Amino acid sequence: MRSLLRILIIFLVIPCLFLAGCRKPARENDSKAGGIILGFSQIGAESAWRNCNTRSVQDAASAAGIQLLYFNAEQKQENQIKAIRSFIAYQVDVIAFVPIVSSGWENVLGEARDAGIPVLVCDREINIQDESQYSGFIGTNSLQEGRSAAEYLIKKYSPQAAADKTAAGTASSAAHAASEKHPAGKRPVRIIELVGTEGSSVAIKRAKGFRDVLAEYGAKNGEADFQIIYSVSGDFLRSKGYELMCSILDTYKDIDVLYSHNDAMTLGALDAIKERGIKPGTDIVIVTIDAEQAAIDALKRGEVNCVVECNPKQGPDIIRLATLLAKGKTIPRTAYMKEEVFTEWDDLSKLPPRGY
Ligand code: AHR
Repeated sequence: MRSLLRILIIFLVIPCLFLAGCRKPARENDSKAGGIILGFSQIGAESAWRNCNTRSVQDAASAAGIQLLYFNAEQKQENQIKAIRSFIAYQVDVIAFVPIVSSGWENVLGEARDAGIPVLVCDREINIQDESQYSGFIGTNSLQEGRSAAEYLIKKYSPQAAADKTAAGTASSAAHAASEKHPAGKRPVRIIELVGTEGSSVAIKRAKGFRDVLAEYGAKNGEADFQIIYSVSGDFLRSKGYELMCSILDTYKDIDVLYSHNDAMTLGALDAIKERGIKPGTDIVIVTIDAEQAAIDALKRGEVNCVVECNPKQGPDIIRLATLLAKGKTIPRTAYMKEEVFTEWDDLSKLPPRGY
């Protein structure tokens, strides 16, 4: 019944408000009575990670008794802008949105500010000159995720780490191969990078954090031990991960590492790698971001070497912060989710199911 009501509001009421140019009737004592209305613009359903993120917000809203106006933008910024404008027309108490890309939000956020509606930026960050155009950010620490991916590689290819593991009798064949190739080897470690959606903060920062750490390492050691030989956007999609990896494997022969900005692309790439009889996790070291169950399972099977968590369960924090904003309170400018790193060296037997 509730979802029917919600569907009616989204598909009939909001468009009518738009067309008629009228405003939603004032809600008496809504906020004071706890009847907060939150407009939430999600970017789409591109991955299991994203679906979990959406569920997390919906569940937290319903647990808190918050009415959620949910829009799926189907990967288009223009749809998000339309959704935010409809939230303004509807006079919601708070607007929350996951920006598909980091730039181009000035006008619509200016409109929200003029309407006196606080805006919470979720999951991905925005790049805007006047930061007062939104109230705060809660989400992914993508710069750190990129850094963690590179830190793992440095450990993996450090001769000391390989020697320690050999001594402890826990070395994987990939660790042996790695220690032979680098730094005693003749050439840098060759990396392929599958990048997320172009222009998204997560793609930009995962690329930057990764490069920063490798450059710092290179500077310390007086040489570049790692080389990104090819970097291409797979839009965070499994289908593109597969297609791109097929053509990459046809073009490049000496690939040491695949660094993929999300699990969906990684899973597609794994299919392409295995189809060619190459052993992922052994012949090619795989580093991926998100920590979906499927990636953790691949890590346990030895097909993936490192999984950097990106935590999609942002709903409770989004709802807590949105509630504060609805009550006129200020919130921290930036809050990052707690995120872990899982590697081939960890005992994952007690890791609880991921739920996504
Ligand atoms: O913004 C977070 C990223 O978006 C996740 O890594 C990815 O799976 C999703 O599409």
